Amino acid sequence: MEKPIVNGSHCHNQLWFIIRASFVFCLVLLCLDYSVLSGVKNGVFPLVSQSFSGSQKTHNATQFAAIDEISVPNPISSDAHRDFPFRENNYNITLANVTDPCSGKYIYVHRLPTRFNNGVLRDCRNLIKWFNMCPSLMNSGFGPKVVKPQGVLSRKNWFETNQFMLELIFHQRIKQYKCLTNDSSMASAVYVPFYAGLDVGRYLWGYNTSVRDSAAYGVADWLRKQHEWNRMFGQDHFFVAGRIAWDFRRQTNNESEWGSKLMNLPEFMNITMLSIESSSWSNEFAIPYPTYFHPLRNINVVHWQKRTRTRKRRYLFCFAGAPRPTMEGSIRGEIINQCLSAPNRTCKFLDCKAEGNKCDAPVEVIKVFRDCNFCLQPPGDSYTRRSTFDSIISGCIPVFFHPYSAYAQYIWYFPKNYTKYSVYIPQNDIKNGNVSINRVLSRFSEHRISEMRKEVVKLIPKVIYANPKSRFERFEDAIDIALKKVTERVNKVGEVMKEGKDPSVDFAAGNQWKLKLAGIVGDQALETLF
Ligand SMILES: *[C@@H]1O[C@H](CO)[C@@H](O)[C@H](O)[C@H]1NC(C)=O
Ligand SMILES: *[C@@H]1O[C@H](CO)[C@@H](O)[C@H](O)[C@H]1NC(C)=O
Ligand SMILES: *[C@@H]1O[C@H](CO)[C@@H](O)[C@H](O)[C@H]1NC(C)=O
Ligand SMILES: *[C@@H]1O[C@H](CO)[C@@H](O)[C@H](O)[C@H]1NC(C)=O
Ligand SMILES: *[C@@H]1O[C@H](CO)[C@@H](O)[C@H](O)[C@H]1NC(C)=O
Ligand SMILES: *[C@@H]1O[C@H](CO)[C@@H](O)[C@H](O)[C@H]1NC(C)=O
Ligand SMILES: *[C@@H]1O[C@H](CO)[C@@H](O)[C@H](O)[C@H]1NC(C)=O
Ligand SMILES: *[C@@H]1O[C@H](CO)[C@@H](O)[C@H](O)[C@H]1NC(C)=O
Ligand SMILES: *[C@@H]1O[C@H](CO)[C@@H](O)[C@H](O)[C@H]1NC(C)=O
Ligand SMILES: *[C@@H]1O[C@H](CO)[C@@H](O)[C@H](O)[C@H]1NC(C)=O
Repeated sequence: MEKPIVNGSHCHNQLWFIIRASFVFCLVLLCLDYSVLSGVKNGVFPLVSQSFSGSQKTHNATQFAAIDEISVPNPISSDAHRDFPFRENNYNITLANVTDPCSGKYIYVHRLPTRFNNGVLRDCRNLIKWFNMCPSLMNSGFGPKVVKPQGVLSRKNWFETNQFMLELIFHQRIKQYKCLTNDSSMASAVYVPFYAGLDVGRYLWGYNTSVRDSAAYGVADWLRKQHEWNRMFGQDHFFVAGRIAWDFRRQTNNESEWGSKLMNLPEFMNITMLSIESSSWSNEFAIPYPTYFHPLRNINVVHWQKRTRTRKRRYLFCFAGAPRPTMEGSIRGEIINQCLSAPNRTCKFLDCKAEGNKCDAPVEVIKVFRDCNFCLQPPGDSYTRRSTFDSIISGCIPVFFHPYSAYAQYIWYFPKNYTKYSVYIPQNDIKNGNVSINRVLSRFSEHRISEMRKEVVKLIPKVIYANPKSRFERFEDAIDIALKKVTERVNKVGEVMKEGKDPSVDFAAGNQWKLKLAGIVGDQALETLF
């Protein structure tokens, strides 16, 4: 599945998103490009078309009114702390930890007016211009259950999850967080359940800037009026966006510029955003795209990991996607050519533009990826892709062509040494046409492939969104990691403030060296690319 968004992947030779002039230029190019790509005249949107056929009934917003009713567990209940938070060999447990294991981890959830979250869901037919999103809201945002796993998927826990549903998924899951508090003065961090991406998704095409920015201003005003704001000027606040950062980074009020200006409002410059793709700003962190596997229990994950680790794979490499013929500099055409012309059918191409869009069907995607050693992840409309996470849950080693596709993004999730779990082929080498992907990948020995696959399979629990109904001991999933990191960050900012310093200097810096700061290492020197 591809994203109907635009972004600056043409800008990679400049310092990431930093140079404003090239920003605007890029955006215009891409907006044009986008309208061509979108193929609206055919009544279909080839890159995002979704078929909700077969098993699904028709759904509408009234049926989702109840999704907010999951009860909040008592944070100090016995069962809740079984795996939490003491670790073996940690001798530096302070008194506070002993009396309260949630110390330094409390989160307060703002009671935001519903027009900024559930109210948006009621408009589910219009969330994305090209198809009805209502079915995607089911099951806490996981979407319809996969009813026919066809022996490809494990029997339960698989859903037809839409890649833009993270806001809802996160909101439902945080209700299970063990250290929630209703007393905001105790909280380390304040979660703002604003469905920023679903909101703006309705207005990205064909609406003026005041419509696109309306909710952004509304939430900013509301937040500033709450007494929670004053403690740290919002720097203990965070929210989750299920779209890429680029959709919230409009710089001017020029109508032809893309997106909303949410992240450029003074209030939001003091807030941390977690989104599926971050830009270079330091108050943004990337968290995984939601993929299809949402297990209930540890054992479901363990079984799936075993299955993916041991599977014999008949293709050397695979690509699931569509070309970007009108996008200047896109390497997708070349990737597809190389795949189709690879000798001895060592590459499998899943054409996302073909009839009956298989790329949105979990069974079809996993059926291909589970048979491949390597899965190609070239930039598309933006640097990142949901497919990266489809490939990880399939135990397929991702091949990246740009450091912003993953290494500079999911720094909370992936090993710092990217050579361990992925292959990097600079996209310029593909553009020049002098690198054969087949040749590069053929050089990896069976042993090395198996080592890398082990690392990929280890990532599975970290990048998935567990079923919020799981109340038992559970692996640490994408949300557990995000909440741990975000409270750590806020605690650090708080300490800086206590020392009387202004944390805003680093809080929202436009920082092109994210990669370096994150300590990323690997076989090639990534810095040379900037
Ligand atoms: C939505 O569903 C409810 C209950 O199933 C039904 O009464 C109502 O007519 C439906 N509305 C639309 C717009 O389909
Ligand atoms: C505990 O704290 C001491 C001093 O603050 C430090 O030297 C030591 O490495 C810490 N031990 C652990 C296990 O973190
Ligand atoms: C104990 O609490 C302190 C501060 O409240 C925190 O920094 C530390 O990580 C906690 N330790 C454990 C083991 O949870
Ligand atoms: C917070 O308050 C709500 C409503 O009063 C209650 O349902 C919930 O259990 C409380 N949560 C905590 C963590 O105390
Ligand atoms: C923007 O569009 C809305 C509705 O489409 C309209 O009511 C409003 O007047 C427009 N604003 C400007 C500044 O054009
Ligand atoms: C808005 O941007 C377009 C494209 O960059 C440019 O041609 C136009 O002059 C701009 N309009 C204003 C009012 O700045
Ligand atoms: C953002 O935080 C800084 C302190 O770091 C503060 O001076 C500023 O007023 C805050 N902005 C808003 C809109 O509250
Ligand atoms: C294709 O497969 C045949 C038979 O397995 C083998 O002899 C040949 O070297 C392969 N060609 C390439 C280019 O790998
Ligand atoms: C990164 O991992 C690879 C493969 O495990 C290893 O060969 C290499 O030495 C590591 N590089 C660094 C800088 O740790
Ligand atoms: C690709 O071609 C360019 C220009 O001809 C050359 O500079 C570069 O070294 C080549 N790269 C590889 C990996 O062969």
